[in-house]
Amino acid sequence: MRVLLFGGAGYIGTHVALSFLERGDTVGIFDNLSSGLRSNVSEKAVFFEGSILDRNKVGEALSAGWDVVVHLAAFKAAGESMILPDKYAENNIAGSLILMSECVRHEVNNFILSSSAAVYGEPAYLPIDELHPCNPENYYGYTKLAIEENLNWYSKLKDLKYVSLRYFNAAGYDPDGRMTGLEKNPANLIPVVMETAIGKRPNILVFGSDYPTVDGTGVRDYVHVSDLADGHVRAADYLMAEKDSLIVNLGSEHGLSVMQIIETARTISGRPIPAEIVARRPGDPAKLIASSSKAKSTLGWKAKFSDVETIVESTWKVYRSQAIKSGRTL
Ligand code: WQD
Repeated sequence: MRVLLFGGAGYIGTHVALSFLERGDTVGIFDNLSSGLRSNVSEKAVFFEGSILDRNKVGEALSAGWDVVVHLAAFKAAGESMILPDKYAENNIAGSLILMSECVRHEVNNFILSSSAAVYGEPAYLPIDELHPCNPENYYGYTKLAIEENLNWYSKLKDLKYVSLRYFNAAGYDPDGRMTGLEKNPANLIPVVMETAIGKRPNILVFGSDYPTVDGTGVRDYVHVSDLADGHVRAADYLMAEKDSLIVNLGSEHGLSVMQIIETARTISGRPIPAEIVARRPGDPAKLIASSSKAKSTLGWKAKFSDVETIVESTWKVYRSQAIKSGRTL
């Protein structure tokens, strides 16, 4: 199979590329390196540098002939999207429309979207299945919903089929150690915990301890990035074999609190990881947990690496070795 990954040099895209390469598929990576790293791109992949807003470059890359496109080229900081909505509108929505129309023009008719649980907003019930209403709480989530809605129209009006993968909280690193690139300026819990563990930050701020959860801190469904990568490979096989499009959640179906993550990181790293409780972060729901039954029944997908130990240990290995390389004493 020939697979072209837009945004394939980023944290998730690099893991997705590994999974396709591992089974012998031909992989192309298109990335503008705004958050992705050139060093993340495997020597076995073809690299195209460019932005999805550059129609000519997108068309050029697509003209090499591909069976499936995976679209991971989006800004993803929910907080920032509320302050800079135009940045998100342009790249995430306008860029995706360019990409979709170029796919149709070049007859690359199988499209996998990196979507998000952020499309659901505040949960009305748990676990969240795909029938849950979509009322995004932040503009970032809205951009993903807008892309999904356009994919739905394109699938009706044009010959485009898609699988939209709604990830819950992506976390962890390749358990075989093949991916060692760190995210630039992370804001998500686990990388921030890791930066505290290596001494780059003095402490981790815990946003709220008065939620109606097991220990008062926010609960999320952390899904290992290698499990997400496997979901993309299965989605590609689905598109090659089936005639219909699909929207599915990818989550572990287990909730972990902020304090459970910090405690596990302290045990695994042996580092103190000072934590300070501060006020809730606006827009944060108390608890998000996925139902992944549909991914199981349609894609045969099941999370294998999404236990807290594997997630934290695989991440710690990368942060620890990068910290030592950059001269920190641990
Ligand atoms: C997890 C928990 C925080 C940082 C985000 C996006 C969402 C999706 C996944 C892509 C929460 C707490 C965090 C910190 C903390 N992205 N926390 N201190 O907000 O669940 O989801 O990533 O699709 O769209 O919004 O992830 O990692 O920021 O937070 O206490 O320094 O950790 O309050 O309970 P979130 P997160």
